[in-house]
Amino acid sequence: MSTFVSTNPSNISDVVATVPAASADDILAAATRAKEAQKAWAKLPAPARGRVIANVGRLFEKNKETLSALVTREMGKVYAEALGEVQEVIDTCDFFLGEGRRLYGQTVPSEMPNKNLFTFRQPVGTALIITAGNFPAAVPSWYLVPALLTGNSVVWKPSEFTPAVAQAMTEIFHAGGVPKDVLITVVADGPTTFAGLEKSLEAGVVNKVGFTGSTEVGRKIGALAGQYIQSACLELGGKNPMVVMPDADLKLVLDGALFAGFGTAGQRCTSLGSLWLHESVHDEFIAMYKHAVETARVGDPMKDVLFGPMLSEKYLTNHIKNLDMIKDHHTVMGSTGVGRITASNPREGFVGDPDAGYFAHPTIVTGLQAGEDLYNNETFGPLVSVGKFKTIEEAIELSNGHGYGLSSAIYSSDPKSIWTFREGVSAGMISVNNSTSGAEAHMPFGGNGKSGNGSRQSGIWVLDQFTRWQSLNWDWSGKLQKAQMDLIETPHNPEFTL
Ligand code: UN1
Repeated sequence: MSTFVSTNPSNISDVVATVPAASADDILAAATRAKEAQKAWAKLPAPARGRVIANVGRLFEKNKETLSALVTREMGKVYAEALGEVQEVIDTCDFFLGEGRRLYGQTVPSEMPNKNLFTFRQPVGTALIITAGNFPAAVPSWYLVPALLTGNSVVWKPSEFTPAVAQAMTEIFHAGGVPKDVLITVVADGPTTFAGLEKSLEAGVVNKVGFTGSTEVGRKIGALAGQYIQSACLELGGKNPMVVMPDADLKLVLDGALFAGFGTAGQRCTSLGSLWLHESVHDEFIAMYKHAVETARVGDPMKDVLFGPMLSEKYLTNHIKNLDMIKDHHTVMGSTGVGRITASNPREGFVGDPDAGYFAHPTIVTGLQAGEDLYNNETFGPLVSVGKFKTIEEAIELSNGHGYGLSSAIYSSDPKSIWTFREGVSAGMISVNNSTSGAEAHMPFGGNGKSGNGSRQSGIWVLDQFTRWQSLNWDWSGKLQKAQMDLIETPHNPEFTL
């Protein structure tokens, strides 16, 4: 049987988990079981499912430190961020446990007497949820918690780089009272997952697909779901702009650009892509940023560092490939080297042994221009590109021009600039005087254009992903009343003038 082996990216000799690799037929079998189990789960009253989510949330709280340490060990983000990630799971449970007692439908007036209209939310059925390794706990919870709460069953395909976190999460859901077949976790590679999804759609045992990952794969999954008359929930890449106006508090910008640029080693969907500095503050800010990044501590993610390793060798290799987008007209700064940090390509002040893991130098590239590769492409790593602008209109154009639209930020003290940006930027999420990363768990999370098909996760907005509206009309008049035909007209005078 083939397996996936996950290793600690800051200490590659540390094997975290070995798990069986599912085949496409295994995915189909899991979805078939989940589909069967969904009926009884949906019959459980929603408040009772809410109680299960409450149990699950309490268990995440009880196991917060252990799970966070596992996130750091398997994924590599610094422990403080891992704690934040698990907190985001708890926050998501906190939000949805109450939704079990709401899950409101509407009562709607009818155009006819003795007739009542209602709407109900119906669960979609069985969802196949495919998630990435950069947020192995929080992002899956954005799908799993509302999907389960609304009465769906779930087959979860986590990243093959973080199976131990997925296993731990699944155990917590089951311990909290989610029946085993209502949440089934399978680990598979991308092509196998795609084949399993196709078989499951064909068999009618997957009724909703959720996918967080690259734009390229999202395009294929969305197209496949479309063939089966479904719309996938897609959370894709970003090239998140941060716009710095002349009246910005540069100290605040520095904190935001450090966190958004290099937190999680730049591997958040919300990471800073392009920093756009007004020409009047460009040189001053670059000097500040250069100094801060050059002197930041990088290394062991259990220590107090700005960032730890890349998620895996694949992510490091991609980052190194992305460095080819740097051209002669750019200026590179931020570290004592670029690419992988090793004993022979050292980073001054590195915390720990760089050769033990997949560490990368933080890299700032200035001289960014619209239209070039570095402008057009998401670079999922510790690489921030920086350009200049003259007017807010130009900054908005630069923010939108690449077609991504996930997160964005503006730093300014002028309401006119802020509101102009809000109206013009195409991103689904906007931060004012705050970093592009750090969305709260009960706000709509999602993007437009190359970042997503308009679906939103989190908060009340995700309910529309996992439920379908059912409308009911109940005529108790004892006769056939015909809508649009049996009109009730009140006598009035249309010619009336004062
Ligand atoms: C992601 O990178 O896929 O806003 C999710 C943030 C986090 C979630 C990021 N709350 O950065």
